[in-house]
Amino acid sequence: MGNPKVVLGVSGGIAAYKACELLRRLTESGHDVRVVPTASALNFVGEATWAALSGHPAGTEVWETVHEVPHVRIGQAADLVVVAPATADMLAKAAHGLADDLLTNTLLTARCPVVFAPAMHTEMWEHPATRENVATLRRRGSVVIEPAVGRLTGKDTGKGRLPDPEEIFEVCRAVLARGTAADLAGRHVVISAGGTREPLDPVRFLGNRSSGKQGYALARTAVARGARVTLVAANTALPDPAGADVVRVGTAVQLREAVLKAAADADVVVMAAAVADFRPAEYATGKIKKQEGREPAPVALVRNPDVLAEVSADRARAGQVVVGFAAETDDVLANGRAKLRRKGCDLLVVNEVGENKTFGSEENEAVILASDGAELPIPYGPKEALADAVWDQVAARLA
Ligand code: CTP
Repeated sequence: MGNPKVVLGVSGGIAAYKACELLRRLTESGHDVRVVPTASALNFVGEATWAALSGHPAGTEVWETVHEVPHVRIGQAADLVVVAPATADMLAKAAHGLADDLLTNTLLTARCPVVFAPAMHTEMWEHPATRENVATLRRRGSVVIEPAVGRLTGKDTGKGRLPDPEEIFEVCRAVLARGTAADLAGRHVVISAGGTREPLDPVRFLGNRSSGKQGYALARTAVARGARVTLVAANTALPDPAGADVVRVGTAVQLREAVLKAAADADVVVMAAAVADFRPAEYATGKIKKQEGREPAPVALVRNPDVLAEVSADRARAGQVVVGFAAETDDVLANGRAKLRRKGCDLLVVNEVGENKTFGSEENEAVILASDGAELPIPYGPKEALADAVWDQVAARLA
């Protein structure tokens, strides 16, 4: 098998320049990329750039090299088509099956997964016409990732930015790795990630070693499987995954509020965050000072709400699937089974922690325990692989 064949469609928006970076990521990681810009995309970045970076011609029309029948061949041969940026006009054409240039023809002939990364002004993204076109494309199995929120062209800010090319690349990788339809399309999933911090005073907190990487891997893979993702991130230092709506929180109480709010219309809630079980009973509004000749006062703690148990007990929707995580140091499976019952969730992902295990690493090993008694060991491997295994179990329960 040769290198995976990727078609990078570029439509006419200012974010076209960011597609150069996506192209580099794809080619440097061994993908054979054919760039198909639209004529208006060339107003932003010229054909020479696309041809030089991809090593292939980068024409926009079906009338060039006609003997090679490019309007059919390029789409047929592709393992993945990614359109970044996808303008409102491009989404409309794709939704309606128009085919007036090489890219729109390619979209009609491709039978591989298709990812659209829209970028436009907020008003255009929110317009009912665009909303309907996006819904149509998603219903047909395309992955349309949500634009990021931030600075737009000119002085505006809002939803409509093209996500970071690095993160679009991660979505492409995840879609290519699975190579199948978006089985979480139309689903809203809520994922908590990271670790809460419980403040003692303005400069100190009780925290934990969670990096958030497993929760972010869950968010990325869910986007790649077509889900609408709300990521409740507690004190993480990771880039926002493309397509996820990120809600930042600090404490367990804030995390609970954000998770319950998002869970109200969610199909799935995954509690991957390390939530502190206790918080200091008192918060000192000024920095706690050491006192000469006096022992420090003991820190009194109070219980935090158990978000996983609460979400499991009060399902906001019938059929909502709730997933917990458990990190254990001893009697991993026995503790996991007991915890699954105690928390009342449908699935519990149990992993063993200790020195140099799991926290902050790129890899993970776990057992997925199910409330129906099933136990699925996941071998040591990338956190994305564990995330996909979790989504496989979730998708089976949603079906
Ligand atoms: N969790 C939660 N709210 C808390 C504590 C934990 O929602 N206040 C969730 C975590 O997000 C994770 C799971 O519960 O999904 C892990 O629970 P853990 O804290 O390990 O379990 P405990 O019930 O605290 O068990 P123990 O202290 O006995 O390990």
